Order: sequence, then C-alpha cells, then structure tokens
Amino acid sequence: MVEKIVIGKDWKDLKKFGEKGTAYIGKHVVGKGEESHLTNPIQMDLTRPHIVLVCGKRGTGKSYSAGVVAEEIYKLPDEIRMNLSVLMIDTMGIYWSMKLPNEKDIEMLKEWGLKPEGLANAKVLVPKGHVNEYKEAGITVDHPFTLSVGELTAEDWITTFGFSMIDEHGIMIERVMENLKEKYGSKYSISDIIMEMEKDKRTEQKVKDALVNRFLAAKGWGLFEKEGTKVEDLLKPGVISILDVSHYMRVSESWSIRAMLVALLSRKIFAQRLKARKAEEYGQVTGQARKTIPMVWMMVDEMHQFIPNEGSTAATGPVLTLIKEGREPGISLLMITQRPDKLHEDALSQADLVISHRLTSKADIEALRSIMQTYMLEDIQDYLNDLPRTKGSAIILDDNSERIYQAQIRPRFSWHAGGSPIIIKEKSLIGEEKTTGEKSTGKA
Ligand SMILES: Nc1ncnc2c1ncn2[C@@H]1O[C@H](COP(=O)(O)OP(=O)(O)OP(=O)(O)O)[C@@H](O)[C@H]1O
Ligand SMILES: [Mg+2]
Repeated sequence: MVEKIVIGKDWKDLKKFGEKGTAYIGKHVVGKGEESHLTNPIQMDLTRPHIVLVCGKRGTGKSYSAGVVAEEIYKLPDEIRMNLSVLMIDTMGIYWSMKLPNEKDIEMLKEWGLKPEGLANAKVLVPKGHVNEYKEAGITVDHPFTLSVGELTAEDWITTFGFSMIDEHGIMIERVMENLKEKYGSKYSISDIIMEMEKDKRTEQKVKDALVNRFLAAKGWGLFEKEGTKVEDLLKPGVISILDVSHYMRVSESWSIRAMLVALLSRKIFAQRLKARKAEEYGQVTGQARKTIPMVWMMVDEMHQFIPNEGSTAATGPVLTLIKEGREPGISLLMITQRPDKLHEDALSQADLVISHRLTSKADIEALRSIMQTYMLEDIQDYLNDLPRTKGSAIILDDNSERIYQAQIRPRFSWHAGGSPIIIKEKSLIGEEKTTGEKSTGKA
C-alpha cells in the first residue's frame, strides 16, 4: 500500500489517530517540471482547528482548492462530519455549482479514482433582496439571508460608510444608535434609524441629509431586517452553507458591505462557539448533551479585501479575533488570496497550513517565508519554480510538521463554476451547457 502523507497533524496526533479524519487533497509531486510525476496521496487534517492560507496568482487554482477541502468535509464519515459545519463566503458567486456533479472531467477523475458527484448537503444562501435574480437565472436558493440591524454597532456603520468616529457624521450615528438601543433594545429597522435621524435637532441639516441618504441606500442592499438569519441556520451540522455575496460587485460600496457582513458573522460565530464550547465541556463532565452549534470551517475568498495589511475594514477586528482566538472554541479559517503580501500580518503569522499555487512576486514569496521561518527564501522560491505547469499544482507548507511539499491538488468531483460572477453565467451555462463547465467564462 502506498504510504500517505498527512499534513496538519503534529507527531503526537499522527501517532494516535493516523489518517483518521483527514482530507484527500492531492498527491505529492516528485521531480522537476516536465520530469515530475505524482506519487503519494496527501491527506490534510480536519479533526482540529486550522488556519489555512490558500494563495497563488490569478487563475492558478485557489478557489478550486478551497472547493476540494469543502468536498472532503462532505465525504467525512458521519460521526466526524456532523460535528462540523462549513460557511463559505462566496465573493465571486462561483460555489453554487458544487451541488452539481463534475461530469466534464469524468476521465480525469477516473485516473484519480474518483467519480463525479454533487454535494447533496450544500445550501446556497443569498441576500434576501436578490433571491429573485437567482431564481430567474434558474439557480435554486435554499435560504434568503438577512442581517439583524440591531446587531450592527455604530462603528460598523461608520466604517462601512467611510466616516470616522470623530467627524460629525460619526458622532451623529453614534448618538442615534444609542437612542435606538434605549428605545427598542436590539430590534429595530433601517426605517427606525432614518426616523430617529430626522428627529435629531443637534446636527446640521447637511450632515443629516447625507446620512439619511446613506441609510436609504443601505435599505436597497436587500440585506437588513429587524430580525436577521440566525447563526444556527447558517451553521448546521454537516452542512456546507454557501453565502453568495457576489451581487455587491455592482454597488459602489461593494467591499464595505461585504466587510460589514463578514464582521457581523465573525462576531456571532465567535460568541456562539464560545458558548457551545462551554456547553460541550459541561456535557463531558455531566454526561448531558446540550444542543450547540457545531465546530466551524469558515472559508473566505479574497481575504485581503477584509483584513488588508494597510488600513482596516469593518471586518478587520472581528476576523482577527477569529484568527487569533478561534482555535480554542473550534473555529477553522481557510483564507484565499492572490496577494499574501497584502494580507494582514497577523493572519500570515497565525496560518499553520499554506497551499500556495504559483506566485512570482518577491514580496508575496517573502510573505510566505514569514509563515515558515525555518525555510530560506531561496528554498521556497525554488520549490515554487520547480512546480509542474499544471493547473492546481502547489507547494504546501506545514507548520505542524515543519515540512514543505510539492503537490498537485486533485480534480474536483463537484462542478467548479470558474471565476466569473453568477449572473454572467446565467445565459450561457445554466440549462443546455450545464455540464460543459467553465469554458465560456473566459477567465482561468
Ligand atoms: N487541481 C486542479 N485540477 C484540475 N484543474 C484545476 C485545478 N485547479 C484549478 N484548475 C482549473 O483552473 C481553473 C482556475 O482555477 P480557480 O478558479 O480556482 O483559479 P483562482 O486561482 O481562484 O483564480 P482567481 O484569482 O481568478 O480567482 C479552474 O476553473 C479549473 O479549470
Ligand atoms: Mg478564485
């Protein structure tokens, strides 16, 4: 039997559990360039929390690789899978297609000992105001998604709109939020915010008008309600929830809206998992099981937009909390970026597994080195240069075993919709061309 390479486990876990609860993500590549060939399977640990960084230049296979990890969670035996939940923040609108089998690559899959299969447990969530557009495109939306207005802080709004806590806009938002909290607790709507602003006598009309306009625009994002989607509905045991936020590409505040959303979700996930952890410990001591949310794998595409190296977004604080303190309460993060150099340095330093597809900029390779300081910059560069020129080839840095591997990530058994947003795909792919894959997206 071919020996398997397990990544993400230290030697103690490896000795105790072996390859149990690991994901088959690809094969070890031996030899350089043209001469290279595939050898041992590479298995990635899914039993403990990890911070995984997936990087690489445009079109090298990052989103695809994240999909491979999601597929593997789907394939876990029930007793492990039901303790996990996956939340994919889909900024490009590409993951809905995981519900469909990858018939297109049936031959390639065969070579890898795999068969096309759609993920029966994947659920697509879309901001409520946009559900119809998906339906018109022939895509099934499993749940509309909304945020509770009352759970957003004054600071969330201020950052989202690009004001500061100390300018007159920021000050007014803060005062209005305080009033609303006093009046309604945490259950109010955007209209309530606007009404409260109209009533405010302490601010110049000009400032007031500007703010009211912003909140009216926010109403149009189709995202807010008095009572939003519950975290429990997003993080169901064994379910892969795909939160498609690609729509906001067309709105001017596009990234700030998404950052606000990621901020709120990260805060809620963290709080809920802390609670769950206590309940689990209580359960272990007393033998009484309490219903809690499962451990979480959160996967975020284009992470540098949420936690940039320079400046900050509404998501910066909450996501960094997940990164730095999420392990204990059982939160794993898979971060995708084209530019590791542009990612917040705390995210880099906390990553314990890196899957890096081809990278060429020196700054980006240096960013990788800051994760694995046991290796020389030149070594990492050589490993990257020697990769075969195939899609999905990558180097893997494993901080747990302090090793580097060259790998070929395996083909997907569920369909990968490529890199284009959903609505562009609508006419060309849904229906007659369903199984021909991403050839018409023109972006690879
Ligand atoms: N492991 C793989 N095996 C086979 N084909 C792959 C693999 N990884 C990627 N590909 C092919 O490469 C294409 C591009 O991959 P992907 O969409 O993941 O790129 P990306 O790095 O996320 O690009 P972008 O930066 O534009 O988001 C895929 O549509 C697929 O056809
Ligand atoms: Mg991508």
